[in-house]
Amino acid sequence: MPQGKVLVLHGPNLNLLGSRQPEIYGYETLEDVNNILREKAVMADWDIICLQSNHEGELIDAIHAARLDGTQAIIINPAAYTHTSVAILDALNAFDGKVIEVHLSNVHKRESFRHHSYVSLRADGVIAGLGVQGYRAALDAVMAN
Ligand code: DQA
Repeated sequence: MPQGKVLVLHGPNLNLLGSRQPEIYGYETLEDVNNILREKAVMADWDIICLQSNHEGELIDAIHAARLDGTQAIIINPAAYTHTSVAILDALNAFDGKVIEVHLSNVHKRESFRHHSYVSLRADGVIAGLGVQGYRAALDAVMAN
């Protein structure tokens, strides 16, 4: 029996990590990020699912599935949906486990429209500005409980 199960969700445009504005988002690809997290989870005997989507509804469907499949925690970088999506907030509000919101960049140092997050109204923890390290910290926090 695994120790637990975590879902990692990446929002729109994060499939372009590594080549998309690397001065802001870094040179690691999404595959690099997911591999780091998978390795860390496997070492701790946790199940992990990593999913990226450019479609709001697909992210919401994944959150709904997590309500029913024994997922204890969701680590989510909602990307631009952070600042727009009441629907993702509502879906997360229907999920009982832990939610950690991650941003690669420090959104508070950037344009003012990035300063507000709907997801933060639900998140148990928020990490911004630490790059890939933020995902590691989120996974550590999830697996510590
Ligand atoms: C982001 C910050 C968002 O404002 C932006 O739309 C993204 C990525 C980040 O990881 O820093 O796509 O969530």
